[in-house]
Amino acid sequence: MISAEQLAARVSELAAQITREYEGRSLVLLCVLKGSFVFAADLARAIGMPVRVEFLGVRSYGDDTKSSGVVQITQDLTRPVDGDHILLVEDIVDTGLTLSYLREQLRSRNPASVKVAALLHKPARMQREVAIDYLGFTIDDVFVVGYGLDYAERYRNLPFLGVLDPSGISAG
Ligand code: IMP
Ligand code: MG
Repeated sequence: MISAEQLAARVSELAAQITREYEGRSLVLLCVLKGSFVFAADLARAIGMPVRVEFLGVRSYGDDTKSSGVVQITQDLTRPVDGDHILLVEDIVDTGLTLSYLREQLRSRNPASVKVAALLHKPARMQREVAIDYLGFTIDDVFVVGYGLDYAERYRNLPFLGVLDPSGISAG
């Protein structure tokens, strides 16, 4: 659906915008695991200023393509972020439940600001209104894999974004 070349071009544009807007400030890229690890790695390297990198492990899906609506923190930050500018790096905002939960959780850690960079957005399934400050692509209501995104932990290492063939799911 989106080639490696298209992804790289869009990531460079987002990184240039982020660099312009955060220059001179203490920026923490907060990579939301696992799906964002590829996007975050490319984004971090395209940003032209010093950044810190932290990881937050969350699970909102079982091995299914439907949101459970329940967000579980599986790995927490390693350092305090009070006074820092946090950029939450998300692979995809689908229902918005994960993002709204994370934003709420981060408030208690007193960061200077919290903004969101999301590679993908599926507006069709939005349940919770959440602002995305830096958005890669808006997509239709299809289940995508690759570039960090999985189906049942598979396909994360594809260098492009593809649409999962539903007949492949029923075939197991
Ligand atoms: P939300 O809480 O419904 O917004 O879901 C966010 C999380 O669901 C993402 O970080 C992904 O891990 C997962 N997700 C949602 N849609 C897709 C998809 O099309 N492919 C792979 N993972 C998805
Ligand atoms: Mg996932």
